[in-house]
Amino acid sequence: MRILIIGAAGRLGAALVREYQDKFDVTGFNHAQVDLSNFDQVREKLDSANFDVLINVAAFTKVDLCEVQPEEAFHVNAEAPRLLAEICRDKNARLIHFSTDYVFDGEKREPYTEKDEAKPISVYGASKLAGEANVLAAGGDHLIVRVSWVFGPDRTSFIDAMIKHAQENEKVEAIADKFSAPTYTLDIAQMLPCFFNSNADGGILHFANVGECSWQQYAQWALDCCHRLGVSLKARMVRARKLNDMANWIARRPVYSVLSTVKYAKLSGISPRAWREAVADYIKRFYSAK
Ligand SMILES: NC(=O)c1ccc[n+]([C@@H]2O[C@H](COP(=O)([O-])OP(=O)(O)OC[C@H]3O[C@@H](n4cnc5c(N)ncnc54)[C@H](OP(=O)(O)O)[C@@H]3O)[C@@H](O)[C@H]2O)c1
Repeated sequence: MRILIIGAAGRLGAALVREYQDKFDVTGFNHAQVDLSNFDQVREKLDSANFDVLINVAAFTKVDLCEVQPEEAFHVNAEAPRLLAEICRDKNARLIHFSTDYVFDGEKREPYTEKDEAKPISVYGASKLAGEANVLAAGGDHLIVRVSWVFGPDRTSFIDAMIKHAQENEKVEAIADKFSAPTYTLDIAQMLPCFFNSNADGGILHFANVGECSWQQYAQWALDCCHRLGVSLKARMVRARKLNDMANWIARRPVYSVLSTVKYAKLSGISPRAWREAVADYIKRFYSAK
């Protein structure tokens, strides 16, 4: 199986390359090698490449910057995926395109299923939703995988920022009124091969570690795990902040964006592990020796 990964130097992309390099014939393109805003370059690179599955994890992911650069956001997050889907269709290859929980408005109070209507409240969310629609409209055997609150060792994310903050400061705060589920890049990398050949009915699949939490609960669990492993911290407790306190945010974010993994469990026969277990595993692997 020949796998091509676009966005190979990002948080998820680097994890996919690492996990697949000994199992598949993998090629990874980073931003400099394939720039999704340069369609001629994309066509040229992909026309000369041979692959069975193209995984696109490249995206304009800076949520606030998308608000001020909407044209670029739609170009990279919506128009480029259309081009990728058309190229894959013509080459008889499968596109697996990653999307986000931010396609939802956050008004629900129970996990969002693949059948729930997506109503984004930010340019980022709208551009990613348009990308999904463009991929599905291109025809071909493509799959959209929506994930939430992605963390892993290849690029710092919320959890790493919280741990660093707690190592350097006595006071740590995190938002207590915004909920989703952290998702480990390793778990995404391990679940995906199950979908290299077969499609998920309807073309959209949600994947996240199981359960839900606020950012405060997520950060508190990370500090608890660090403490248990003997990682030295100046702060042990995470105090609550409110979403409304985030005056410097430009984009609106959904207050509740937990993704249901019922469909995934039905198709794969496996339930993702709980987010607390995944976070504890990550901290044990990457913080206990520090
Ligand atoms: N991180 C999360 O919490 C989260 C949550 C839900 C969904 N997702 C989705 O999951 C996927 C992977 O996200 P991630 O966490 O791995 O994000 P990431 O670390 O920001 O990686 C995105 C990658 O895309 C590259 N990129 C940006 N603009 C590009 C362009 N025009 N052409 C080519 N490459 C470009 C970036 O390169 P540079 O850094 O060099 O710009 C980066 O390597 C994305 O589709 C994202 O929307 C992420």
